[in-house]
Amino acid sequence: MSVDDDKRLAAFAAVDLVEDGMVLGLGTGSTAVFAVELLGERVKRGLKIKGVPTSDSTAKLAKSVGIPIVTLDEFPQLDLDIDGADEVEPTLCLIKGGGGALLREKIVAYASKRVVIIVDEKKLVDKLGKFHLPIEVVPFSRGLVQETIKKMGASSVVREKNGQVFHTDENNLILDCDFGLIDDPRALGQQLSLIPGVVEHGLFLDMVERVIIGGDGSVKTLLR
Ligand code: A5P
Repeated sequence: MSVDDDKRLAAFAAVDLVEDGMVLGLGTGSTAVFAVELLGERVKRGLKIKGVPTSDSTAKLAKSVGIPIVTLDEFPQLDLDIDGADEVEPTLCLIKGGGGALLREKIVAYASKRVVIIVDEKKLVDKLGKFHLPIEVVPFSRGLVQETIKKMGASSVVREKNGQVFHTDENNLILDCDFGLIDDPRALGQQLSLIPGVVEHGLFLDMVERVIIGGDGSVKTLLR
């Protein structure tokens, strides 16, 4: 089984939680793509759902597979959010943002009654932080935030893609930050939120109902 098979298995199990009439959060990233594609197949077979996409790329995919797109203005409370993650620790805190969509992802997760995360087993860690923490900042504040992060003992780099500075869907920058292994993600999350110019950070804390993990041809579920 490949990593993609593991991701698809996890996506399949998450999509099984979807019921007729639900309004869903549609995640971003290579694992979420499998879920959106599977949902599209079920829509073609008659499933009635609507989706709020967490990125422009997911919006494009959702439209292409026939999922009706709605906004949080129309549906401020969502039934279920299905999304991927970059790291998952035992209390189901996450690092997200590897795909640069963490801001909309966190808004959609916050709006959702239930958040279901789908990952392959390589994403499980004892402590968060090997994957560098993405932090979304307004361009004006970039220098200040990098300096503040340095004083906190971490290094940061401005994310680039294809040799160009990467801009998020909200036209902000991403700083990928190396805090080492994070002993207290809740304390770090609070500290980061206090820095002016930080729009959002990729620590998803106490938001998740369950994590579905694909590995070795089967899935297992961690519940909070
Ligand atoms: C997108 O910004 C991210 O939060 C993704 O959910 C995360 O990076 C996982 O992506 P993959 O499913 O591609 O590993």
